Amino acid sequence: MAVGGRGVVDPAEPVLRADDEALLRGRGAFETVRVYDGTGFRLSEHLERLARSAERIGLPPVNVLQLRELASQAIEAAGVEDAVLRLVWTPGNGEDAPTALALVSALGDHYDALRERGQRLISLRGVRADEPWLLPGVKSTSYAVNMAAEAEARRRGADDAVFVDADGIVLEGPTTNVWWRRGHTLYTPSVELGILAGVTRAEVIALAAGSGYEITEGTYRLAELAGAEEAFTSSSVREVMPVVELDGTPIGRGPAADELQAALRRAALATLQQ
Ligand SMILES: Cc1ncc(COP(=O)(O)O)c(C=O)c1O
Repeated sequence: MAVGGRGVVDPAEPVLRADDEALLRGRGAFETVRVYDGTGFRLSEHLERLARSAERIGLPPVNVLQLRELASQAIEAAGVEDAVLRLVWTPGNGEDAPTALALVSALGDHYDALRERGQRLISLRGVRADEPWLLPGVKSTSYAVNMAAEAEARRRGADDAVFVDADGIVLEGPTTNVWWRRGHTLYTPSVELGILAGVTRAEVIALAAGSGYEITEGTYRLAELAGAEEAFTSSSVREVMPVVELDGTPIGRGPAADELQAALRRAALATLQQ
């Protein structure tokens, strides 16, 4: 771990004040970045989103240069090639300097195994963030609801959840964006629904044409996802992850998830070679 004003510290070291607003009220912003071969993938995009989240929560402006430096210190100190990098920006106690953290953890092969098997999803009622104070598209440290939804999905024997609003409109997963395919068209909920504009979502949009797919973003009911020819989720850490079941009903596997996962890995490799 690397900490603003301190540099590399042992992750077991205490680094937050007890009166930190992020701890007391969840007023912090964070990012989760995939590290491929010692390099944070799309780090600039994650830092831009962190800065936007901080602004929306009303935190002091993110020191992007500082976080970039902390990220490389933490990645180097961790000495792992494939990893997860967490960037955290908190206002501290609101009087002293904000807190900047970069934490690197090993990835494990759990997600590759899940990609092989395909994930089972259940739909859960979520909140459509359609007012500014509901923080649409903001990645704040107030993620207890998202984690509770994941736990509920597991309690019901599934791997993950997909949120739908009170009208049955598909939103996103607790830590993923959701996709499905009919023919050569990929469908995904519009960011205008207040969901997070995923960095991987943007990547999939950019890569889709190269694999022969058109993208349609919009407002869709759960039945459209349930009746799809194939479905998958996207996130920095889980990458492109096929869905094989929704609410107990099978969804077929198809080529798009595998093609886009391969394209994502190629894009990651290409940035390493630049
Ligand atoms: C609510 C939510 N939606 C979508 C995503 C996927 O975003 P990204 O592709 O930037 O990881 C995340 C990531 O954690 C998330 O928390």
